[in-house]
Amino acid sequence: MYEAYPTGVIRLSDVVSALSLALDLTEGQPMGHAVRSCLIGMRIAEHLQLSGEERSDLYYALLLKDAGCSTNASRMSHILGSDDIQAKREVKFEDWTKPSVSGLRYLMRNILPGHSVPKKLLRAVIVGINQSRNNAEMIGARCERGATIALKIGMSELTSQAIHSLDEHWDGGGYPDHLRGEEIPLLSRIMNVSQTVEAFASARGPGAGVAAAQERSGSWFDPELARIVEELGCEESLWQTMMSPGLRDHVLAMEPGAAIAASKERIDSICNAFAEVIDAKSPYTYHHSIGVAKAATEIAEGLGLDPVTVNLVRRAALLHDIGKLSVSNTILEKPGKLDENEWRVMKAHPVYTRAIVRLISGFQHLAFVAGAHHERLDGRGYPDNLTSAELPLTARILCVADIYQALTEDRPYRKSLSDEVVFKMMDEDVDTRIDGDCLQSLKQRHEIPSSANALSAKA
Ligand SMILES: [Fe+2]
Ligand SMILES: [Fe+2]
Repeated sequence: MYEAYPTGVIRLSDVVSALSLALDLTEGQPMGHAVRSCLIGMRIAEHLQLSGEERSDLYYALLLKDAGCSTNASRMSHILGSDDIQAKREVKFEDWTKPSVSGLRYLMRNILPGHSVPKKLLRAVIVGINQSRNNAEMIGARCERGATIALKIGMSELTSQAIHSLDEHWDGGGYPDHLRGEEIPLLSRIMNVSQTVEAFASARGPGAGVAAAQERSGSWFDPELARIVEELGCEESLWQTMMSPGLRDHVLAMEPGAAIAASKERIDSICNAFAEVIDAKSPYTYHHSIGVAKAATEIAEGLGLDPVTVNLVRRAALLHDIGKLSVSNTILEKPGKLDENEWRVMKAHPVYTRAIVRLISGFQHLAFVAGAHHERLDGRGYPDNLTSAELPLTARILCVADIYQALTEDRPYRKSLSDEVVFKMMDEDVDTRIDGDCLQSLKQRHEIPSSANALSAKA
């Protein structure tokens, strides 16, 4: 067990490792993929006798390696005409750098599901012709975004660079810069082999993980690192730890050097950055979490809540849809009504939100508030059919802010609505769905400002 900080102090690794679980979902990986990759990567770093500083940079780079993953989800879904999450999950097991029967089978499974074989084949040919350009675009966007997010939350330049070059291959066949051999930062080389070994080992056993590293040694991976992985193959305790329930505590205990404490400002910047990750999943939500946070803060301040509670509500709003990273873009961007199965997937997103956020020390109430944003006062919301007696003011604020923000945004099936129309619609839901005082507070902040205020607002 790692040593917990005194009450009120939160470790940076606690926050980052918990939120990394949401990045795993977008990548179609079982939750814990980044944490397990971190375990493997840190063992490789030990073999290489990296310095404490390098290990610390690597540690956070491994946990945040997929921070840019949501930026290409919508594009991938459109290129294949299918579920981006399933496609991302399966591609981890393909060596897409060379043509193969297995690669063709992957395409046929993941392109235009439910369509005729000729249609699938035609799309597969188009995908094949554009593969290099699409890879450069999608991997480039993902790397760029991940590296930027790392810097935004105060990570080092080396951590950011490591994330940027995560998908480079030893033989120059990777992206975004086709770096070759030792041109690729060492930390990126460690991360690339670690994430592949983890994906194979988790799905098919440690032997498959070690074998994948050997098969791609010299093409994808630095041969020296593939050799170290071969040695790790004999370390039974490593693979047992990797699959144990205590894995996260173990990885928290592995943080190199003195554990970094997360200041209030740093936690706020992490919540802001993850809101951007969530919003980037779909063009329809490109400003959603940030907008909900603004509305929720307005309501909370208007109700005269103390600054600590206002900040809790704001953070909950920024993270409320983090579970949506588990939902495929074919569902998020469906122009028509969702079918029963799609609704089941959609309704699970607040459950994921709560499960992920509650892992962070001291975030239990925040997790409850964030996970309750689709509940209704009359008990007809989801996921738990909570009733008014079970919904504290903090949760009611978030419900109102979420509905308001969603109605003022475009959706695949309708255009955005004006404040006037939105407030009229929300009036009809007072006491059945939403809290009247929270709505009143939001309305007061959205009254047409006086000319003086309007001028200063423009300035
Ligand atoms: Fe939601
Ligand atoms: Fe939302």
